[in-house]
Amino acid sequence: MATYTTVTVTNVRHWSDKLFSFTTTREPGLRFENGQFIMVGLEVDGRRIVRAYSIASANHEDELEFYSIKVPDGPLTSRLKEIRAGETVLLSAKPTGTLVIRDLRAGKRLFLLSTGTGFAPFASLIKDPEVYDRFEQVILVRGARRITDLAYGDAIVERVRQDPYIGDLVRAQLLDYPTVTREPHVHNGRVTAVLESGQLSTDLGIAPLDRSTDRVMICGSKAMLQDCCELLNVRGFEISARVGSPGDYVIERAFVDS
Ligand code: A2P
Repeated sequence: MATYTTVTVTNVRHWSDKLFSFTTTREPGLRFENGQFIMVGLEVDGRRIVRAYSIASANHEDELEFYSIKVPDGPLTSRLKEIRAGETVLLSAKPTGTLVIRDLRAGKRLFLLSTGTGFAPFASLIKDPEVYDRFEQVILVRGARRITDLAYGDAIVERVRQDPYIGDLVRAQLLDYPTVTREPHVHNGRVTAVLESGQLSTDLGIAPLDRSTDRVMICGSKAMLQDCCELLNVRGFEISARVGSPGDYVIERAFVDS
């Protein structure tokens, strides 16, 4: 059986009636690669309820951060959303996952495609200096239904832009493209649609997707992953077949759905 440790919640922030984030203490021995996930949970009536969560903090940070939806009647999130600073959550011992930059071939531009809470692993990756070392430009695409759903990502992007250590790199190399599907916004349309139509490259003033220069990481719903994979496959991109085998792109589901 998997080993679990108990960590203490240090802060909780509610971004909307559907989304919240929280930070916890970090065991000094916990090692992870930016972009990986870990099992997070609670003990309820003597039973452990756990789900996979991408780690939204970077591996150089002292605390762990997680970003979650609130599923009405969801066995875990309906309870987890009530958590307060000072209370504890369970954490599995071994982070894992496929959204790691070492599984990408060398390239010039890195596209980070996300919808909903699929932004979480990218919150970690955009704080990683190695990402800016390996890629000249990082294009972060954040799809959401409504403007309020973008608030957490907006705050993270602003924070990394202002960061005293990495802010210069971020301001020079990171392009942020929040796009909304169910109300008017600066950018509108699904992640797949804005890539396919060329709207994203027009808006950002950059060249369209190109396998010879671009690498891609994708995190979202099952349907979103499928559509993004199709879009990339027809353009000749090759997926990383497994951890340790580099490809042109890597994918991971945004897990928390109950
Ligand atoms: P839409 O409003 O057109 O469904 P959700 O909250 O359902 O996870 O959706 C988050 C965002 O992802 C929404 O903007 C949604 O657009 C979009 N989305 C849903 N399915 C797909 C898909 N197959 N490909 C790309 N974007 C998608």
